Amino acid sequence: MGLENLLVRCVGITVGAQIGARVAHRIRPRPFPPSLRNLLDHPARMKYRDPVATLGPFGLGPGQTVLDLGCGTGTFTVEMARQAGREGRVHAVDMQAAMIDIARARVDEAGYARRVHFHHCGAYRMPLERNSVDVAVLITTLSEMPQPLFALEELRRVLKPGGRLAISEEMPHTGYLPERIIRGWLREVGFRYGGLRGAPFCYSLLYFNDE
Ligand SMILES: C[S@@+](CC[C@H](N)C(=O)[O-])C[C@H]1O[C@@H](n2cnc3c(N)ncnc32)[C@H](O)[C@@H]1O
Repeated sequence: MGLENLLVRCVGITVGAQIGARVAHRIRPRPFPPSLRNLLDHPARMKYRDPVATLGPFGLGPGQTVLDLGCGTGTFTVEMARQAGREGRVHAVDMQAAMIDIARARVDEAGYARRVHFHHCGAYRMPLERNSVDVAVLITTLSEMPQPLFALEELRRVLKPGGRLAISEEMPHTGYLPERIIRGWLREVGFRYGGLRGAPFCYSLLYFNDE
């Protein structure tokens, strides 16, 4: 086989595998496997996912209560804790214990253990008080849920009136969904649209809880 043919075959296999993985994810959404955790902090990802730049538009500030739903390895949890300050609090939630363990070690190492409360649980029912969260952030997490509307209803319960909800998605993630689908879900649950940042490759949607 010539080099050109080999190259065409490799590209075909890669594209086919990508399409297959994305279709499978849509049929049966599932949480990101801890075995691939290094991808979450990979330097290539950090080129478009710098935590300071990603969180900037979400308006975190000192003294706030922030929810990091689907905290994964804690890539954004540490920066949330820094921005929430000494008087603030971060609730870091994940359904996978292996992810929580990694995130907790990272937060401890950064010296923010007292500011971050970890919860090993699912998004549909969280051990948080009603009207207790100022800002909820979901980064490449909502698209992993089989029942995203259940999670959005729960977010309405825990967010304070006027609280903010930020949802961010990125194309390299096999669960990636275009913003029009996510916006449809948010409309259904009744959050008020607050704007779109970024490009289709990596975008963030901001919402307000008007209730
Ligand atoms: C792709 S990772 C993203 C982690 C982190 N937000 C980041 O962007 O680096 C998604 C995380 O959400 C968690 N997750 C997915 N569905 C969830 C659910 N229903 N409840 C709680 N956590 C969930 C997964 O376990 C995984 O750690």
